[in-house]
Amino acid sequence: MQGRAMAGSGRSDERPSRQINVILRNSEPPVISQPVPDTEAAPAPAEKQQGAFMEIRKELEQLVGLDNIKTLVYEIFALLQVARLRSDAGLLSEAQVFHMVFRGNPGTGKTTVARIVAKLFQKMGVLSKGHLIEAERADLVGEYIGHTAQKTRDLVKKAMGGILFIDEAYSLARGGEKDFGKEAIDTLVKAMEDHKNQFILILAGYSDEMEFFLETNPGLPSRFPIQIDFPDYSVDQLIQISEMMAKERDYILMPQAILKLKQHLMAEKLESEYAFSNARYVRNVIERSIRQQAVRLLNQYGGSSPGKLELMTLRTEDLKVDSKAEKKPGIL
Ligand SMILES: Nc1ncnc2c1ncn2[C@@H]1O[C@H](COP(=O)(O)OP(=O)(O)OP(=O)(O)O)[C@@H](O)[C@H]1O
Ligand SMILES: [Mg+2]
Repeated sequence: MQGRAMAGSGRSDERPSRQINVILRNSEPPVISQPVPDTEAAPAPAEKQQGAFMEIRKELEQLVGLDNIKTLVYEIFALLQVARLRSDAGLLSEAQVFHMVFRGNPGTGKTTVARIVAKLFQKMGVLSKGHLIEAERADLVGEYIGHTAQKTRDLVKKAMGGILFIDEAYSLARGGEKDFGKEAIDTLVKAMEDHKNQFILILAGYSDEMEFFLETNPGLPSRFPIQIDFPDYSVDQLIQISEMMAKERDYILMPQAILKLKQHLMAEKLESEYAFSNARYVRNVIERSIRQQAVRLLNQYGGSSPGKLELMTLRTEDLKVDSKAEKKPGIL
């Protein structure tokens, strides 16, 4: 198993309706759906935790592969559950550190897993809100002295009670000692000390770059006891993901279309070893095929209805998967 947990404290407050997801990208201001009081998480009874975990497990099981992550999530759950039982029995239950590093290529499920983990921690009472703030270098690094520390502190403030997820975190070390990225790292480290257990920090990025980033910042690795690898999906897993994505949208891929997609994925994976964006890539393929199918059906049937099955069917001709076509912008 690649993921390791050294973790576990048990407090809770179950307010699923108050969960928020804030995505910080392209410097857009964060959208907070409703104000959430900055309260401490409170313990949830053991049976309630069990029920909540079943829900999360169901969500996890729907994900293709990621066995190491499924095991890790179960370990965290077990640890939290036992910590709760130990505390009920008057035994010592030490507060644990849950900051994590997610290493993997684009589209390997990092953000999806971060959302599920946020929910787990909220349901188990580790985090009071369980929201996810997704950020990248531009959201932390400012333009003048002092600006970076302020921007980073503001982000941490928004992440209180939830998870701060920093994508391509290695880019914070890009410019060396004089770069403001260093100031962002120092501010994050200080925030981790000052607000122990009030938020969880996840640093994500390509494996090699993250390895280098952690090596060159010696204070960091010990602060991130959970390090998880997100491997690239195999072609078979990508096909499974495609079929699932189609099904979720009420579509079916014809066997010939699956075969065409399989051959295309094999070639594409070979051709763009480093730039291949895994599940995100197949999602784009499926979404584009759905648009192609719509155009085909309109051309074929005009105003009349093609029938339910035909409306659901994605055929070989709907799959426009000529090499590199996925990367071209545009609707069709
Ligand atoms: N194992 C999986 N099973 C099913 N769907 C998946 C799986 N992994 C990822 N996906 C889907 O693929 C898409 C991309 O996943 P996600 O955004 O989590 O990847 P990521 O690693 O965060 O990518 P990036 O590094 O580009 O941000 C999402 O639509 C997600 O639901
Ligand atoms: Mg992501």
